[in-house]
Amino acid sequence: MRNGNIVILTGAGISAESGLQTFRAADGLWEGHKVEDVATPQAFERDPALVHAFYDARRERAAAVEPNAAHRALADLEAAWSGEFLLVTQNVDALHERAGSRTLIHMHGELNRGWCLACGERFAWEGAMGEQVPCPSCTDVGQVRPDIVWFGEMPYEMERIETALRGCDLFVSIGTSGAVYPAAGFVQTAKYCGARTLEINLDPSMGSIFFDEHRHGPATVEVPQWVKEMLSSLRA
Ligand code: OAD
Repeated sequence: MRNGNIVILTGAGISAESGLQTFRAADGLWEGHKVEDVATPQAFERDPALVHAFYDARRERAAAVEPNAAHRALADLEAAWSGEFLLVTQNVDALHERAGSRTLIHMHGELNRGWCLACGERFAWEGAMGEQVPCPSCTDVGQVRPDIVWFGEMPYEMERIETALRGCDLFVSIGTSGAVYPAAGFVQTAKYCGARTLEINLDPSMGSIFFDEHRHGPATVEVPQWVKEMLSSLRA
């Protein structure tokens, strides 16, 4: 494929080799917590201190790790590609943009952003958030939450993503288990609209049957290899 429109979806698996844990560990827990205790609006109402401590630790950890070869390869592909290119990530870390990706949607929000429930403003955030920070916009105290899409909330920029999926020629899913909708359904939209579909993952995802091609292995090996092939097809 020499040009055409590409949509890439990434999940926790692409950041695993940078040192960030994936979600679905064998014990069913996420960094020792049940998902409903830390990643729902109800959990935040019930125990904001616990939820803040959880995301403060995630933010600190994400700031301490580096983008890996898979993040960098996707940035290289975007820079060289003449067709439309959209990277959609479910990840809340900033490793894609730190690797140089530009056209990027964080559909599940970002650790490095806050959202004030008092005035509705969203803003960049670094370091611990905690329960008692004032909103940088309205100065109300105790109303700032991580700008993360929790279970039961609507992911960001769905219209833009749907439009790109319907118009893409190639859809690639990298490092995601295909367990969480709506992202898990993107492959079906793209395929129904005529795109070729490729899955790059350590093992077959839940939606594996919807992909035309599979490359199973670590993202830092498989993604640079695939990008190398794409870039050499541009030069052919
Ligand atoms: P998961 O933890 O569900 O899946 C990660 C996938 O990456 C699995 O299929 C692994 O096999 C694969 N994987 C692990 N290491 C890898 C590696 N080195 N190279 C390639 N693949 C590897 O994570 P997500 O699919 O991202 O949502 O989870 C989706 C959503 O569920 C998250 O965004 C989060 C979570 O609950 C919210 O917080 C709303």
